[in-house]
Amino acid sequence: MNAASVIKKMQSGLTPEIPELVYLLDLPEGDELKQLYSAAYQTKLKYVGNKIHLRGIIEFSNICTKNCYYCGIRRGNHNVTRYQIPEEDILSQALEADQLGLGSVVLQSGERSDEEFVSLIERLVRKIKEKSGGRLGITLSTGEQSRETYLRWFKAGAHRFLLRIEASDPELYAKIHPADHSWEKRKNCLTLLSDIGYQTGTGVMLGLPFQTTEHIAKDILFYQDMNMDMIGMGPYIVHEDTPLAKEMPDFDPQRQLLMGLKAIAVTRLLLKDVNIASTTALQALHPDGRKMGLLAGANVIMPNITESRRRAGYLLYKGKPGVNDDSLSGLELLKQEAESAGEEILWNDWGDSPHYFARSKQ
Ligand code: 5AD
Ligand code: SF4
Repeated sequence: MNAASVIKKMQSGLTPEIPELVYLLDLPEGDELKQLYSAAYQTKLKYVGNKIHLRGIIEFSNICTKNCYYCGIRRGNHNVTRYQIPEEDILSQALEADQLGLGSVVLQSGERSDEEFVSLIERLVRKIKEKSGGRLGITLSTGEQSRETYLRWFKAGAHRFLLRIEASDPELYAKIHPADHSWEKRKNCLTLLSDIGYQTGTGVMLGLPFQTTEHIAKDILFYQDMNMDMIGMGPYIVHEDTPLAKEMPDFDPQRQLLMGLKAIAVTRLLLKDVNIASTTALQALHPDGRKMGLLAGANVIMPNITESRRRAGYLLYKGKPGVNDDSLSGLELLKQEAESAGEEILWNDWGDSPHYFARSKQ
């Protein structure tokens, strides 16, 4: 087996065998890896172009009813000061994103499903739409909910939803979550979201304890099977105050970064016309991580536009970048990064996933 033959197979639209995907994902630094990145970049240019889509992310609350073993804001971490940004402030941050030309926002928070939370989001979505004259695109990243809740938010005007499956293998999922967190429920939520009409995104963490390369290969095939429109994957980064930290005493940032980039490249080659995020976790591992993600095939960047004073409260993992940046200087940096990678930023646009429109026509 060699990289060129597997890449060619994928370029011609065939689905590779699992060992072929594993071969690509296990490539060490060297010529074959360069071939992988360059082929993925060509696929990106062909299907989604060199325009970077922006979404301003507002982490509006770190209150979470869940207890995922890897996450710094899990319910059981009592070292975290919990916050919820007041409704009016969330609204003005979203409108600021509009002024900055970001085109769309992501409202992200810990998971809650009480009526107060559900109606807060419903109101916010309505108001953001209204006050931006319908201009701002709205993505939600607010966890597992009932069909009714998803529908309410959709009707209010949200049109994209991010819900990572975290691990597409139920056994691996069970090792990184408490027993009352259900893989089946999560998977079913993805189906509900797509059926309602959301552009739906999922993803996993890469380099998790207990995760093999075969798991990652199957994660990528899972995205394809589920007909996902958007993919957000990032390397797993240890957070000391979580139960999973003890499973990875020898955390190796370089290895995590490399797996993050390879997974993006292989996903681009296989899925072609989807939106793929170059995630903050890549940047946490390397100052140029986000740019490396773009060159490996990603086309979406999610600048953090949460009020600076809240950011330290949303540490999902150690060393999360941008805790001290304000949105404007963050954006300036981003522009420089994009230009140095030969990419352009698409301002004032929702930056929808072409895959969504292709599958809607089917
Ligand atoms: N390292 C990397 N990503 C993490 N997330 C949560 N904890 C970590 C961590 N320790 C990711 C999860 C979640 C997203 C919001 O953040 O994949 O879906
Ligand atoms: Fe809550 Fe999400 Fe963290 Fe899990 S990953 S504990 S659901 S914020």
